[in-house]
Parts: sequence; structure tokens; C-alpha cells
Amino acid sequence: MTRVLKIGGSILTDKSRELQPRPDEIRRVAQEIAAHPDDVVLVHGAGSFGHIPAKKYGLPQEFNREGLRVTHRSVAQLCEMVIEALSHAGVEGLPVHPLSCLCLRDGRIENFFMEPIEEMLKDGIMPVLHGDVAMDATGKAAIVSGDQLVSYIARYLKADVVAIGSNVDGVLFSGRPLPRITRKELSQVQSAIGGSDEVDVTGGMRGKLLELLDLADLGIDSMIFNAGIKGNIARALKGEYVGTRIGGGN
Ligand code: IPE
Repeated sequence: MTRVLKIGGSILTDKSRELQPRPDEIRRVAQEIAAHPDDVVLVHGAGSFGHIPAKKYGLPQEFNREGLRVTHRSVAQLCEMVIEALSHAGVEGLPVHPLSCLCLRDGRIENFFMEPIEEMLKDGIMPVLHGDVAMDATGKAAIVSGDQLVSYIARYLKADVVAIGSNVDGVLFSGRPLPRITRKELSQVQSAIGGSDEVDVTGGMRGKLLELLDLADLGIDSMIFNAGIKGNIARALKGEYVGTRIGGGN
């Protein structure tokens, strides 16, 4: 059972302060993942390690070499912290930095060298990816969100469980999480779905939903859930729909 799990940067970091990890949450998340670690590809968000430097350097609108370097360095640091916490929890993970194994075109993944991820899974190693800066074939500076990574990887691996954990209970409509949403229903709720309260260069909830609806169009349902609530990550990894289910499957 292949599973693709994203843990948002809002859980792992204080998104309002640059380079501010939340070590207790990183530890808790690692422990929950360690309860169901098999065949999991983990993607984590960048939080304040990515969005704040990216914004400072005008990424992705402006091409800024220093900005690319600095932003990548800090998200890679957060990745190390996550891998370290996984290791303490008994899970061996390895970093897969998107900057070094994929290329975008107009902000969308065009080529992605997936073999290392597949080999790691075969060998019982958890691949750990993250939202990152990336090269774009059009010459623009670019950012690849963890959400886009989840959608691509889940499609490529034909994942059985696809879960995006953030700090809200799902796709909220009038303050309540919708149990399920399909593309047909999107227009009815679209205006009520926001971006993000904090600095966010990759589209907040709307960005997540659009990625996952693309996936649902291919027959892969997924969920957006609150990873800040203890126990939810473990439930999601077991395939239980916590939060909002995206897609119309049975
Ligand atoms: C953003 O990644 C990547 C950068 C800003 C470099 P995400 O969009 O996946 O991060 P979160 O989950 O919103 O923090």
C-alpha cells in the first residue's frame, strides 16, 4: 500500500517567524509517522524556512540567484530536522531535494527523476521531500510546492493513500470542514475558500485543492486534514478519511 503524506509547513514551523522550527511538533509528527512507516513517501512544507526568504527575494516572480540559494539552503535545513526526528522515532529516511531531481516548465513539473524514490521504497527507506525552489525551463525562477509534489508522486506511484495535513480541519465552508468535495461542487464553494493567513507564495488552501482535484480526475482520491490534531496522521496513514475527502470515489 503506497502512501504519500504531506505535512504542511504551518505544523512544523512558526510560519510568521523566519527559520523558526516547532521542535515538539516535528517530534510528534515523526512519532505518528513511525507508527505506520511502510511504503510512505513523506513530503513536508517549507513553512517559514521557505515562504519568508522566497518573499524577501521576490521569488518566484523575480529571478534572483542568491534568493534561490538561500531559500534552498533553509528548506534543506528543515528537511534535515525532519529526518533527524524520524531517525529518533526509529524510521530511516533520506532527503530527496526537488531542486536537484526535477525541472519545471511554467511552474509545473515537466521532468522528475523518480528512480531514487522508487529504490528507497524497495529498500525500506522513507524518501523525504519538501517544497523547494526549482529550475524552470522557461528561464523563470520557480518554486515547487509540496502540494504539487504530492500530486505528481501520487499519480506516478498510483498511490493508495494520499493525504495533505495542514493546520485546518480540511476544506472549510462556512467555518466547517466539508466531508467531501468533487470538481463538480467546486464552483459552489470556490468563493469561500481562501489562500493562507500567513506569508504563502504557493497558494494556500486553494492551491492544495486544485492539485488534488487534478489527481481525483485521474481516479485517485485524497484528503486534506488537520495534522495538528494528535492521532490524525496515524489515522490518515491507515487510509481513514479524516478531514475533507477530495474526489468522488467509493
Ligand atoms: C513552499 O512549499 C516552498 C517554498 C516556499 C520554497 P509548500 O507550499 O509546500 O510549503 P507550506 O506547506 O505552505 O509551508
